[in-house]
This record gives sequence, structure tokens and C-alpha cells, in this order.
Amino acid sequence: SRGHHEVATPSEELLMQVTLAIKRFNPESEQSQPYFQEFTVDVEEHFTVLDSLIKVREEVDESLALRCSCRASICGSCAMRVEGHATLACKTKLISVMDGQGKVRIEPMTNQPVVKDLVVDMKPFWDKIRDVEPWLQTEGPEPEDEYVAPNEAMIHLAGVMGCIMCGACVSDCTVLEVDPNFLGPAALAKAYRFVRDPRDEADKHRLKELSKYTGIWDCTRCYECVQVCPKDVAPMDRIMALRDRAIAAGFDGN
Ligand code: FES
Repeated sequence: SRGHHEVATPSEELLMQVTLAIKRFNPESEQSQPYFQEFTVDVEEHFTVLDSLIKVREEVDESLALRCSCRASICGSCAMRVEGHATLACKTKLISVMDGQGKVRIEPMTNQPVVKDLVVDMKPFWDKIRDVEPWLQTEGPEPEDEYVAPNEAMIHLAGVMGCIMCGACVSDCTVLEVDPNFLGPAALAKAYRFVRDPRDEADKHRLKELSKYTGIWDCTRCYECVQVCPKDVAPMDRIMALRDRAIAAGFDGN
């Protein structure tokens, strides 16, 4: 039901009250349009956005749909838009985002179809990751055990390998907003990871594919992906590095 709910937690010390304005959407209900619903809950100062959403779900409205698992910025499942920017709900302290009236606006990620409330369909995300062929491609015979690379040859990839596939960069990508075919920051950062892997021998093929429409030349360098990435993967910087390599390999996007 729509409306305003107030819940007190008598057993806990009441440190502050927050009003969560949550974008709701249930394709199976008569109310098929998304709408904002406000919930006012008592929270403690250390609460994250995810803590407060779980409290709403447990104490006020069990129909609230959201995804989470690790609660520790590891699994990437709790990405959503808070105050207009994609973020991990479990990494975002309420006090860092609430306005002067103690209000926080929470919406599902954009550029991805909403399944229900704060849950989006990640299939398009994974399809694009798959499109960049995220596996080692070598020309020689396969090694018997594993492909071994010295640590020194891989250390520069540590940053990009920190991606937890949360989809935050895809959510706030301004190119995807106008062209859903764009491979997007997450998949292109993944592509960079393989282009720069010393064991991979498909650079030319990869750079040629990435230079086509939907690839590295479609980024407008808006920087949103760098700003919202919770793991400092800096996708846009990887896309620019791929452009340098593509030019060196004779692919300039024309
Ligand atoms: Fe795992 Fe937030 S719940 S990243």
C-alpha cells in the first residue's frame, strides 16, 4: 500500500530518524507505474543505507524487494541509486547521504530493466561482459596445468581485477542512457584486463572488435563511471588506454 509509515524501536537508543523515499515498482500489481513511497524509521548513527532498507523490509513492509548478500562491499549485489548516484547500499552510510530534513532518495539502478522495486535484471550486463570474450586466448598448445604469469607481469592489472560486477558504472553511464547497445564501462574494463594480460595473444582481434560501433570510441568521457565505481576500477581510464592501444594497432574508430 502507498503512504507514510512510522516505526519506533523502543529497545534501542534512538539516535536519529530517517525518511527513506524508495522508488517502488511491482509489474504484477495493478499499480504498474513506478512511484515513490516514504518510510520513516529510527536508525543508529552507524547504519548504512542497506541496514535501513533491511529494517524497513523486516519491520514495515516485507514486500520491499532488494538484493544483498555479503554486506561488506564484496559481492556487488546491493548496487542501487542513492540520491541520484549509483552506489553500494552496504558501503554507504546514511549520514553521508541524508539531506537537512533527514531524507534519502533511493532508486533502482538505471540503464537496466527493473524486475521489482530495487532489483534490476542483470542479464544485459552479463551479456555484454560475455561479448568481450572474457577468457584467455592463446595461439600455442594449451599448457598441461595452468597458464602461469609472473606476479610482476600481472600487478598492474590488480586495480581492474578488483571489479565486483555490481553494475554501478553501467547504471550511471550517460552513453548507455542514449544508446543501450554501447558495451559500457564494466565490459570495456573487462576487455582491458584481457588486452593487457601478458598471457593473452588475441590483442589484435580484441582491439579490432572493440573499435567497432558500440565499443571504445563511443565513450564520451563523462567520467560518471569513474566517480561511482566502489572499487576504484576507473573504467573510463581503461577505455582511454584501450584507445591508445587500438590506434597503435591501426584501428582508429573510423
Ligand atoms: Fe555485497 Fe553490498 S551486500 S556488496
